Amino acid sequence: MIKYDKDNKLFYLNTKSTSYVIGIFDNEVLVHLYWGDRLKNPVNINIVTQMKRRPLSARDYGDYSTNDFPLEYSTFGSVDMRLPAFDAVHSDGSRITKLVYAEHTIAKGKPILNGLPGTYCEGNDNVETLTIRLHDSLKDIDVYLLYTVFEDFNAITRSARIVNNGERFEISAAMSATVDFFCLGDSEILHLDGHWCRERHITRREIVNGNQNISSRFGASSAIHNPFMAICSKGATENYGDVYGFSLVYSGNFTAGIEVDGYNCGRAYIGINPFGFNFVLETGEEFQTPEAVLVYSGNGLGEMSRIYHKLYRTRLCRGKYRDSERFVLINNWEATYFDFSEERLVSIAKKASEIGVDTMVLDDGWFGSRNDDRAGLGDWYENPDKLPNGLKSLAEKINALGMHFGLWFEPEMVNPDSELYRNHPDWVLHTKGRDSHLTRWQLTLDLSRKDVCDYIIDSVCGVLEKANIEYVKWDMNRYMTEVGSAILPADRQGEVMHRYMLGLYYVLEKITAHFPNVLFESCASGGGRFDPGMLYYMPQVWTSDDSDAEERLMIQYGTSIVYPYSSMAAHVSACPNHQVDRTTPFKMRCNVAMPGQFGFELDLNKCTEKELELAKQAIIDYKKLQDVFHKGSCYRLKSPFETNLSAIEFISEDEKTVILCVDCKKAIPNAPEEFIKLEGLDKESPYSLDGEIYGGDYLMNKGLLFINNSEHSSYRFIFKKC
Ligand code: DGJ
Repeated sequence: MIKYDKDNKLFYLNTKSTSYVIGIFDNEVLVHLYWGDRLKNPVNINIVTQMKRRPLSARDYGDYSTNDFPLEYSTFGSVDMRLPAFDAVHSDGSRITKLVYAEHTIAKGKPILNGLPGTYCEGNDNVETLTIRLHDSLKDIDVYLLYTVFEDFNAITRSARIVNNGERFEISAAMSATVDFFCLGDSEILHLDGHWCRERHITRREIVNGNQNISSRFGASSAIHNPFMAICSKGATENYGDVYGFSLVYSGNFTAGIEVDGYNCGRAYIGINPFGFNFVLETGEEFQTPEAVLVYSGNGLGEMSRIYHKLYRTRLCRGKYRDSERFVLINNWEATYFDFSEERLVSIAKKASEIGVDTMVLDDGWFGSRNDDRAGLGDWYENPDKLPNGLKSLAEKINALGMHFGLWFEPEMVNPDSELYRNHPDWVLHTKGRDSHLTRWQLTLDLSRKDVCDYIIDSVCGVLEKANIEYVKWDMNRYMTEVGSAILPADRQGEVMHRYMLGLYYVLEKITAHFPNVLFESCASGGGRFDPGMLYYMPQVWTSDDSDAEERLMIQYGTSIVYPYSSMAAHVSACPNHQVDRTTPFKMRCNVAMPGQFGFELDLNKCTEKELELAKQAIIDYKKLQDVFHKGSCYRLKSPFETNLSAIEFISEDEKTVILCVDCKKAIPNAPEEFIKLEGLDKESPYSLDGEIYGGDYLMNKGLLFINNSEHSSYRFIFKKC
């Protein structure tokens, strides 16, 4: 798996199908030599010296210049002029750090990253970790580069731990991973972008000279960009082309991009956004970067996505609900908004239980003086006007219907009109003398403070202890502004946003560990913090506030570039849709939601008998098929970004069931026929579909004949391998 060739000073990080090769040049410089399909032959380190051709580079190694080398973890201030992996300001004001190879270890397994989420390994996994210590002798700083190889998953994770043995200094940038690509050729960068209600749409653009970057400065990974990028060969498709995926296990400000120089060499990078960030390390202190997950596929985007899906579903998500079936829930938000009573909630639950829904979730508005979004956040006790008998009584009534009871929280926030804020005005992120701007009438609590974190832990745990609550929706509805902490000194204010994340992860670890039987779902005005960091604590996310079936085709398709359908909560809501005012057929709404974590978000009492029948049947189908959607392999066949159709195929783990989901956006009158080619089938085997038999080879070579004749038509074809 990880091999060290001592004679040539080369590290081979081999997964089943890929190799990643690092060399030590001149006993000092860590150079990046290869990342791609698995190599059978050794690599020649002299390849780096062939880069000796740039006239204006200063020479720091005889005839050679590290400015011309592909480096593993670069610094700025000496010879390399590119965007550095690591940048620091030392006590003498200098920004120069020189990191040279000192030693390395190779060990089985994977260490846990202190205070941060990350992938993990289990008992028999073929997983090894290479730790390389780099050292700056003048400043006595160690940087430990961690590379974990998940052999069977075809994934490599990377992070860096910075240890200060010398004088106090300030980290200005510390990337989780950088990869220098020798010659990029014609390449594209793909990322996932959007906004509230249209999260994770796919953006692709040609890579040109200069820096192409996506980032967040919002204090959350954000709906605007997702902490992921893929560098692909131009025109890479779902099953063709080189694709290099970079995904960051982090929920805060991030940066990801690629800087290309005049020789068409590119430095790809991903990590905490250096903008507005600095972190002081006193003597003896250390800093751990978040983890980056690197996936290479020589067979296009689809294979890369399937690798991420499997790794994130089984080695990032944790706890009871990682593998066990989750809930089919009804959420009252779009049915009632803030206007509900115990009676109304029970009546919604009752109707839902009649059609097979197993969980009733009470959303925003149950606590403090919360009658609209202007007040009450932070006061985590029942609103006596709405719930005079308390949560316990409501939970009992829901349980009596044979259903689980779930509850909404937004623990990281506070309304100025709340007891919490009146008692602790300094508990919010703020900067003295500056107006603190409200978003949705709320401010952000300062989770860089331990006392604030402990308040959140106590109040959420207190509520969860007082009633039988088996599901929690953990919401977060504003980005950070006027960021500052009342308790950190001036020179540490640049740490606040990262310390907030560490505080949040501490809180989530405590609460989720304390309630291992509770299913947690994360949310940030929908998908504003849909990232691997949150998935470590909560195995599913409210994908978007936009539950319109047509919009969801794109949101879910884009999300699936990195994240498995098992992580996407998806609900059937009322029409006209509350976000886009569009009306789509009930059947399509059920079908589009079904591959995700299925549920409802409407008052079923207002549905017609026909709709209730469809909903009931959808739940029956979902229960039968959910394992295929959630644990099977996903193939994207037709993109709703590029065509009028969305076609997605799921193959069960045992490969016996194949589900083809086809949804049309617009009607095309008298539409031309088209064949939808399936993928990943056994070409030798026949498959049955509604009594008809098709060869696997025919379905893959020719496809299934499909005629798109009506607006918003939606089909599910279930093939069985014969
Ligand atoms: C935003 C969420 O995305 C919605 O689903 C809902 O929970 C509201 N917040 C409640 O305020």
